[in-house]
Amino acid sequence: MNAIWLIPAGVIGAAVCAGLPRKIDITKYAIRTDKVKNMIRIAVLSDLHNEDYGENMEKLTVPLMNEHPDLILMPGDMAEERHHQDNTLKMMRAVSHIPSFYSTGNHEEYRRDLPELKKQIAECGVRILSGEAAVTEINGTRLEICGIPCRRRESLFDADEISSLFRTDSYRILLSHRPHWVTLYGNVNCDLVVSGHAHGGQWCIPGTHVGIKAPNQRLFSKYTCGIHDLKKGKLLISRGLVKDYHHIPRLYNNPEIVILTLLPEEQK
Ligand SMILES: [Fe+2]
Repeated sequence: MNAIWLIPAGVIGAAVCAGLPRKIDITKYAIRTDKVKNMIRIAVLSDLHNEDYGENMEKLTVPLMNEHPDLILMPGDMAEERHHQDNTLKMMRAVSHIPSFYSTGNHEEYRRDLPELKKQIAECGVRILSGEAAVTEINGTRLEICGIPCRRRESLFDADEISSLFRTDSYRILLSHRPHWVTLYGNVNCDLVVSGHAHGGQWCIPGTHVGIKAPNQRLFSKYTCGIHDLKKGKLLISRGLVKDYHHIPRLYNNPEIVILTLLPEEQK
């Protein structure tokens, strides 16, 4: 190689190395609502893709437990499309004392052995929601959590049909893997939609959470992470926990545990 190319090649190499994931970010949000009586801490774990977080998954479960979540939500892609779920199941077993709810992502839906995978997840104590809702009581407040399976297109769902899965007027949460179906989600009668899938846009502009490209979205879409207003309710998108995507590393985009705190309305 001509020596003149060594300088830009070195700069690019250094920039890539500097941007590789080195830790898990803990991202915190809070929502006030008159539907909760006491504070509830919700952890969102998505898109683990069977990533290895050390022996017994402690590099993930220790920071997670340090946040003292009351509830864990997993909106899909926790396992891979092939037979790789050992790390995922290890993590699920390690947090099984916390009420946990899961819906599928596209990578799980690709699997022919999905029923067997679901059986293994259920045996870890995680409640699987696939076109159904469950009511749970946390800190004296009832929450209703609904999950829908990850299908390929928004048009395969109907907002009224999803709304009809909810049975109570509790705080309503919908788990749905794909984040960018905001028209659909805005017409569902729920308070919060929790998604993943975008992996934060895979490569971010350094120092920001502006992701370059997420599946099924245009460049620099805003629906790669964060919390967004919908026509009704809010949409929360996790950047997920896998460190690379089929050998393409994340850059300037650490894996993420989201902690959402639901708070009662302030007394007047
Ligand atoms: Fe994913």
